[in-house]
Amino acid sequence: SANRCSYTFEEYKESAEWLLAHTDKRPELVIICGSGLGTLAEQLEDKTSFKYQDIPHFPLSTVPGHEGRLVFGKLSGKQCVCMQGRFHFYEGYPMSKVTFPIRVFHLIGVKTLIVTNAAGGINRSFNVGDIMLIKDHLNIAGLSGQNPLCGQNDERFGVRFPCMSDAYDKQLLSLALEIAKEMNYSSFIHQGVYCMLAGPTYETIAECCMLNTLGADAVGMSTIPEVIVARHCGLRVFGLSLITNKVVMDYGTHEKANHEEVLQTCKLRAKDLQAFITKLVSKVD
Ligand code: 6GU
Repeated sequence: SANRCSYTFEEYKESAEWLLAHTDKRPELVIICGSGLGTLAEQLEDKTSFKYQDIPHFPLSTVPGHEGRLVFGKLSGKQCVCMQGRFHFYEGYPMSKVTFPIRVFHLIGVKTLIVTNAAGGINRSFNVGDIMLIKDHLNIAGLSGQNPLCGQNDERFGVRFPCMSDAYDKQLLSLALEIAKEMNYSSFIHQGVYCMLAGPTYETIAECCMLNTLGADAVGMSTIPEVIVARHCGLRVFGLSLITNKVVMDYGTHEKANHEEVLQTCKLRAKDLQAFITKLVSKVD
């Protein structure tokens, strides 16, 4: 049927087996490098990279010039795999394609997902350049029928009705808060609720006010589909948002959300973010 997941178990398996045959690296951790963290992949030691286009069944990047590769290597002495370039729903990928890599990572033995993104700050105490550790999410796309687990369930990955009240690992979250203190990052690190909208439009003023009322602290266009599929198959999840801009919530301002400000803030914080993730990885058990 039209609502069926567009991949079979065998396709995830073929993709996983291709990777296992092409590298002897066995990562325990996957890091999805969002905007501003693309350079983290370059920091890995003893790298092996695969272009998405060379991996069987991997979705193809539609954005010309956009990085699209998996980088395997060591970070803080741990075997990791980085996704350099992710798939967004607003690019036109169905949720099954957005989340395809997650099940492949599960099948090659990855146990933990670290996911990062750029987001607009809704919480009035957040400043541009702050980092928000994700403690929970509002899946707006899911509420309106775009959940990656819609369609036939494959029990080999997980249960029909997975729990989401424990989506973000409490241990990893408190570890990250400890590290923030140690690194003197506390003044610009918060915890909060991440809200995903499909995009690609930024929010209207009324929508920002609505999201604020709903309890969202930050808003973006990614991450939640990957988190859901990761939790479904039992991965541990840690997520963070870089607050790249403040959303507009009153009609008196002339400020406008724009991609240039987002990219600028990413550059500004890239080094700090990289150092933070590197330290976190060193302490993940
Ligand atoms: Cl303000 N909104 C959304 N949806 N995504 C963003 C953003 C805002 N800033 C960065 N990413």
